[in-house]
Amino acid sequence: MQNFKNKLAQILSDKIKAAYDADIPAAEIGQMFEFPPEPHMGDIAFPCFKLSKTLRRSPQQIAESLNDGLNVEGAEKTEVVSGYLNVFIDDNYTVNGMLASIVEKGDEFGKLDVGTGKTMCIDYSSPNMAKRFHIGHLGTTAIGNSIKRIHEFSGYNCVGINHLGDWGTQYGRLAVAYSKWGSREEVERLGVKELERIYQKFYIEAEKDPTLNDEARAAFTKMENGDEELLNIWRWFKEISLKEFMKTYDLLGISFESYSGESFYNDKMDAVVKELDDKGLLVESEGAKIVPLEDYKMPPCIILKSDGSTIYATRDITAAIYRKNTYNFDKCIYVTDAGQSLHFAQFFKVIGLMGYDWEDQLIHVPYGKVSIAGQKLATRAGNAVLLTDLFDEAIRRVREVIEEKNPDCEDKDEIARKVGVGAVIFNQLSAGRIKDINFVWDEALNFDGNTGPYVQYTYVRACSVLEKIEAANKPYPETVTDDEKEMIKTLSLFPLRVRQALDDYEPSVISRYMLDVSHAFNRFYHNCPISKADDNIKALRLDICRATKSVLGNALWLIGMEKTEKI
Ligand code: ARG
Repeated sequence: MQNFKNKLAQILSDKIKAAYDADIPAAEIGQMFEFPPEPHMGDIAFPCFKLSKTLRRSPQQIAESLNDGLNVEGAEKTEVVSGYLNVFIDDNYTVNGMLASIVEKGDEFGKLDVGTGKTMCIDYSSPNMAKRFHIGHLGTTAIGNSIKRIHEFSGYNCVGINHLGDWGTQYGRLAVAYSKWGSREEVERLGVKELERIYQKFYIEAEKDPTLNDEARAAFTKMENGDEELLNIWRWFKEISLKEFMKTYDLLGISFESYSGESFYNDKMDAVVKELDDKGLLVESEGAKIVPLEDYKMPPCIILKSDGSTIYATRDITAAIYRKNTYNFDKCIYVTDAGQSLHFAQFFKVIGLMGYDWEDQLIHVPYGKVSIAGQKLATRAGNAVLLTDLFDEAIRRVREVIEEKNPDCEDKDEIARKVGVGAVIFNQLSAGRIKDINFVWDEALNFDGNTGPYVQYTYVRACSVLEKIEAANKPYPETVTDDEKEMIKTLSLFPLRVRQALDDYEPSVISRYMLDVSHAFNRFYHNCPISKADDNIKALRLDICRATKSVLGNALWLIGMEKTEKI
């Protein structure tokens, strides 16, 4: 479809030049095409509304003038309907142009080269140490991983960064809590869970005795100044935390190129604070040092608190400069919940005010909140659902289904893991990322719904056809059925969907597309018998299965799901 679209765009661009003496580049026209949901509206449509102003004609007139004498190789007919130019692709081009090229490219189909020679950094997941992953972390981890893979698939060199929250007064609190109510044995025995317990105890005790807060601040200042004893304990806590996080990353098949967290910038911030001061950006306010941002309708960005300590923003500004110098990125993406949008807008602005012309290469990708069955989840209140529990439950439930559907299956555990974890990921990524998500077990795990398991099942179907049915010889038949055509058309949209997901930082474009492919494939599978078909029809149908396998396989990877060839 991409080739056809590009060709058509060039023809229309030339026609507009000839008829109206206007220069509208083919690339721009290419962006305007739509792919109608109903076959009677054509396979690719060109809406003429936007051009109406420039060309000073009604959309209908423009569409008619473009249609006049239009001749596109591979088009069966063209039609003008209400300001649209609708193009119908012929059967020969559908099979020998589109399908053949997908099959030929195989697993390479859909890859882009827009990122070739470019580097992107992506800061995602980035949990705070000494806490376990809860469901709120799923968004940044799953969305970040998918956006990274979409970039990789588009040719970018990708640097995944886990900007661990491992620095700040809270680790002074944790140190005090440990010295008062902790023990080495218990931390060793229970890990992060025990760190959470003593941290929560700190809050309860500090209500009664506020001097604990002073103690905590003093402890953190000591850490900032290099107190080895405190730092040793902190390092140990960090190691325990990372070990815990790794369990989830391993389950999801995620790894990072860098684990430099906030503490990494401890010795790099002085220089940045000085630079801010030298550039005349720092203003004193109630003892704190801030960068005023009222000209940009934002509250000031605090750089140093009144006690002289640095904060989250100071570390982020320092990290952005460090990343630019280290990786020379073309873009640096941050994936966090929408609650942090202001923080990012503020520090991006500070980078710009410092005179760095790469301010607009910093991109915040926000997402909405997650709740389970309608219940909002708050961490501090203790009703947070742990990510490990969520995955375990998904795996357990999928295993039950497999046990029932396919009791003889040999690798039940392995398949249940892939499908269960995938179901949770798919559920997280199936709606536009900014939408709040309500996680409902039966919806996420339903094999017949718009779910991860449904897509996995479709993939398995395509694989098993290829495994069971022997190859047949081409040529492809000269005509195709509606189901075959629909399937080929849907597959051919893959590169365009990848491009859209890339441009919008939106994994849901891929997950929704996977549902389109799955629906089309299941209709095709149901209506088009394969093993008993004549040789050339069989060849066509097997190639459709082959192409489906490549496209769905790659799409699953882009979303961060593992695939299974049997269920
Ligand atoms: N640790 C932060 C949190 O858990 C997220 C960090 C996001 N990355 C960044 N560079 N600020 O909320």
